[in-house]
Amino acid sequence: MILAADSPALEIRALTRRFGEREAVSGLDLVVPRGEMFGLVGPDGAGKSTAIRLLCGILKPDAGEGRVLGFDLVRDAGRIKSRIGYLSQNFTLYGDLTVDENIEFFADLHGVRGFAERRNELLEFTRLTPFRRRLAQALSGGMKKKLALATTLIHRPDLLFLDEPSTGVDPVSRGEFWNILSGVLNEGMTIVMTTPYLDEAERCGRIGLMHNGRLFMSGTPDEVKAAMPGRVYEVTCPAPAPAYRALRRRWSSSNVVLYGDHLRLSFREGEPVLREALALLEGEGYGPVGHREVAPSLEDAFVALLGEGNPS
Ligand SMILES: Nc1ncnc2c1ncn2[C@@H]1O[C@H](COP(=O)(O)OP(=O)(O)OP(=O)(O)O)[C@@H](O)[C@H]1O
Ligand SMILES: [Mg+2]
Repeated sequence: MILAADSPALEIRALTRRFGEREAVSGLDLVVPRGEMFGLVGPDGAGKSTAIRLLCGILKPDAGEGRVLGFDLVRDAGRIKSRIGYLSQNFTLYGDLTVDENIEFFADLHGVRGFAERRNELLEFTRLTPFRRRLAQALSGGMKKKLALATTLIHRPDLLFLDEPSTGVDPVSRGEFWNILSGVLNEGMTIVMTTPYLDEAERCGRIGLMHNGRLFMSGTPDEVKAAMPGRVYEVTCPAPAPAYRALRRRWSSSNVVLYGDHLRLSFREGEPVLREALALLEGEGYGPVGHREVAPSLEDAFVALLGEGNPS
C-alpha cells in the first residue's frame, strides 16, 4: 500500500464531468507533486472551477479516477475534505460576524480545538490583526479575500485549492496576497489555483492551459512559452489603430493584437509573413514602420496554442 505522505498531492486520470449534454471537464489527466504551486489557466467557461470542485471531492466525476493526498477521490472524499482548504470563486463570509468570529466559525466547522494561537498567526500573516473586531461586511474587497484565505488555513491543510483568489483585488493587495501564498508554500503546503491572469500564472511552478473542458498543455511557464509555434514581433507606426484594422482584414486576432502605442504580431511562419505585413502597412500609407522581434509572453503562447487547434 502507498503511504499517503509518499504520494503526490494529486494524481488524476481521465476525470470527466458533464452537465446535461455539455462536458465541463473532459478527460483531465494531472499529477501535482507535493509542495508545488500549480496554476490552472483558461478563459471564462473553460472548466477551471468544475475541475477544482472535482479535485476537492465536492462534485462527483462521471468518469475517471484519481487520488488526492493518497486518498481515493470518490471513495474517500470525506477524508480528502478534512485535509484540504478550498477557497471557492464565490466564497462566503459571515458579514455580521467579526474577523475573529469568522475564523472561529471555520475552526469549529473543522473541529479545531485550541485554535487561538493559529488564529493569531493567520491574522499576523494576512495583516488583519488591527481589524480583528471589525465586522466582515465592513472590510474592503481585498481584506475579505485575505480573511477568506485565513479561514481556509485554520486547520493547517496539506493542500490548498484557490479558485481565482485574486480576481477583483487591487494590484497592491494582489502583491500582498502573493506574498502570503509564498509563505503558505514555505510551510510545505501544496497549492492548486486557477487564474484568468497570465501574468499571475507566470508565478506558478507549473501551469496547465485549459479550454473547452480540456487541459491541452501543461508545464513550467518557460516550457509553455517554448512550445509556442512561431515568432512574435512588436511593430510601431504613427497610427497603430487604423494600421491594426488594415492588418485584421488579412490576419486573425490571434496574429494581430493592438496595444496602446504599438502592435504585436505573431506568425507561425515567422519572418516571411512579417515582411508581408510590413509591406502591406507601408503600401497602404501607414509607414514609417518599425519592428523588433520579442520573446513570447505566456499570453502570446496561449493564444497561439489555442489557434493551433490543440484544444479540439
Ligand atoms: N452546476 C452547473 N450546471 C450546469 N452547467 C454548469 C454548472 N457548472 C458549470 N457549468 C458549465 O460548465 C462549463 C464550465 O464552467 P466552469 O465554471 O467550470 O468554468 P470556469 O473556467 O471556472 O469559468 P470562469 O472563468 O467563468 O469561472 C460552463 O459552460 C458552465 O456553464
Ligand atoms: Mg470559475
